[in-house]
Order: sequence, then C-alpha cells, then structure tokens
Amino acid sequence: MCAVKRSSRTLQVRGRRVFVRVDANVPLHGERIRDDTRVRAIAPTLADLRARGGRLVVASHLGRPKGQVDPTLSLARVAERLSELLGCVVALAPDSVGPAVEARARRLADGDVLLLENLRFHPGEEQNDPSHAAALARLAEVYVNDAFGTAHRAHASTVGVARLLPAAAGPLMHAEIQALDRATRDPDRPFVAVLGGAKVSDKIGVLRRLATQVDALLLGGGLANTFMANAGGALGRSLVEPGQAETVAAVRAAAAASGCRILLPKDAVVATAIDPNGATTVVPADQVPDDQMALDIGPAATMAYLEVLAEARTVVWNGPLGVYECKPFAQGTLAVAHGLATSAAFVVVAGGDALAAAQAAGVADRMGHLSTGGGATLEFLEGRDLPGLAALPDARA
Ligand code: 3PG
Repeated sequence: MCAVKRSSRTLQVRGRRVFVRVDANVPLHGERIRDDTRVRAIAPTLADLRARGGRLVVASHLGRPKGQVDPTLSLARVAERLSELLGCVVALAPDSVGPAVEARARRLADGDVLLLENLRFHPGEEQNDPSHAAALARLAEVYVNDAFGTAHRAHASTVGVARLLPAAAGPLMHAEIQALDRATRDPDRPFVAVLGGAKVSDKIGVLRRLATQVDALLLGGGLANTFMANAGGALGRSLVEPGQAETVAAVRAAAAASGCRILLPKDAVVATAIDPNGATTVVPADQVPDDQMALDIGPAATMAYLEVLAEARTVVWNGPLGVYECKPFAQGTLAVAHGLATSAAFVVVAGGDALAAAQAAGVADRMGHLSTGGGATLEFLEGRDLPGLAALPDARA
C-alpha cells in the first residue's frame, strides 16, 4: 500500500512552506504530557525536513474538542516538547487558520518550525469542509502526511489538503504501513495474534479478520471472558460483554473454516476487587466463583500461551491480558511481553494499551514494531482502506 505512495523524501522542500500533518494526540495529565511516544516518533521526520531547508507548518489534533476552543487541549505542551527534541524554537501559532497565521507562516525562514494550534478547535476540520481545507492549504506550498494514527479519519487536514497541494507520505507513515504489511500479507508462519482488552465490540472487525489469517488466536482480558461466557462458562462478577453471542459465533466459525486455533485461558487469577493488597486465588477460568472476578490469566494459561508464542514467526499483539496496572494481576501480561521480546518472531505491538504494557515490562525497545496508531492500526488490521493514506498520490503518479 504505502510502499507505492509518493515519499516526502522525493519532495523539493528547500525554501518552501511544508504543511506537515502529524499525530501528536498524546495523553495529558493536567499540564503534563503523560506519554510522549507520538511526539518522539515524529521528531526525526521534522528534523529531516528542517535539514533539507523546509519551512515547517506542523499541524495536529489533540483530544476531541468537537469544534470548540478548549484551552486544556492546547498544543502548547507539544510545542515545548518538540522544541526540546529538535533543539530549536517551535513557536505555537494562536490558531490553525486565518490571516494572522498565514502571515506567521509567510515569515518562516528555511528550517523554522511553526506549530499550529489544535486543528479540532474548528468544526470544519472533522467535517472535511472544503473551505476549511482551502484555508489550511493557504499556509503552505507542499503537504506531507506523517500522521499514521489519524489516517483512518477523512478530515480537512488528512484528506482535504492532500488534494489541494503537491502531497506525499512521511517516513513514519511508510514505516507503519511497511511493518503492518509485513505482518499481515504473506507473514512468516506460524502467525499468532494475542488479543486482550475489555470488549469484544471494540474489536469485532479485527477478530473476524485475524481469525481468517492467523494460525492461532490467543485471547485474554474481558474479551476471553465473553467467549467463555458464551460457551456456558461461569464467570462470576468478571467483565463480560452482553449481546455478543453472534459475534463470538462468527469469529469461531471463521476460525474453524480457516484452520485457526482459538486459545482461551485455562485458569485465571481471581479476586473480589482490584486491590493491590487483597487476597487472590487461581481457579479454572470458566469456573469463577459468584463473588469473584477474573483479573489476569493464570499460570497454566501463561505457560500455554508462551509455548505457542515460542514457535511463532509473526505476532500481532493488541490489548493487555489482565489488569496489569495492579501488581497482583500483572503477571500474565508481563510474562507474555517478555516472551515476545525474546522470541524470534517479528512482533507488532498494536495500540496504546499493549504499548504501555510492553513499556511497563521494560521490553518495548525489543519488539519488531511499535505502532503509534490506535484506531488506525485496528482498521488496517481489519483490511479497511485508510482515507488519509488513500488521499496521497502513488509513487509514480
Ligand atoms: C488516536 O489517538 O487514535 C488518533 O489520534 C485519532 O484520534 P481520534 O480517535 O480522536 O480521531
């Protein structure tokens, strides 16, 4: 897919204003950036464009302000962090469009960086309003989209502008697509997916698609509970999503038709509450006592999953297998993270929760690819077209 998209490296940027769409949608804790992974991921792209003499107009959304100005969602903290990472002043514009911002953009010198204020302070951004896209396009002469995490959104800054300026995909976009392509098109086998997290409904498309592609599907978390409850298991007070019988049946049928094994945990760590000091026991995962809830996969399930992963040559991991943030329920997720870090498989860690779990295990830097996308990565894995990517011209165009 993106391997055939025009690369930003082929663009002539010296002396030209470059609109660079990035995904700096980082989690905030009050005034602080809680996790700067996405800002660090785009810094090399900006450094490269600066070194080549580009005049950078950098744009991102942050959170979901729904077309209203919300000062708590200003990109000010991102501008500060980018300044540190790039070793230059990254000025924050007062807005993302308008005559004052256009004047600021025109004053940029080669290598300068101007960060626009949160794109989603304007309703026209998410509506992909043509006049809003034109206002964004007036800020620059060429367009680079390096916002893989937002490639599943058809917004003014991801689709509208791409059609108005000479456009190309940035290196992060290329790296993400290449890694996800490698994992899903003709992968080295055995190909295994580890899927956890709370809900089946968040991952219906991915489950159905991966069930037709992988050799084994290892399930954990609320996702596994819901599969077991639909098979008649007793789950006590565990997180079980109601109304998913049809989806579970469809995933099982798709897996059976393509020879994919679905592995559910044999045992579970249970407790009456998510309490770091409370009592825990290990029980068969489909026999959870009425007053207890399953909060982690148990030791037998962990061993069984690690055995499958040891043989794997390609792995996609999305979602934790338990409440890993609370120590008594972290063992399964952390053991799987360590198993993946030491395996010979090409491992794609997809989604913020799995990435955070890999970081908590201290092994994030030993994985094959850490995807910066959340919804975008899931939609790619579902096999859906990403509008932000589709809007970019092919390499030979
Ligand atoms: C993400 O965090 O997945 C992307 O930045 C997209 O954000 P959105 O779901 O608010 O469009």
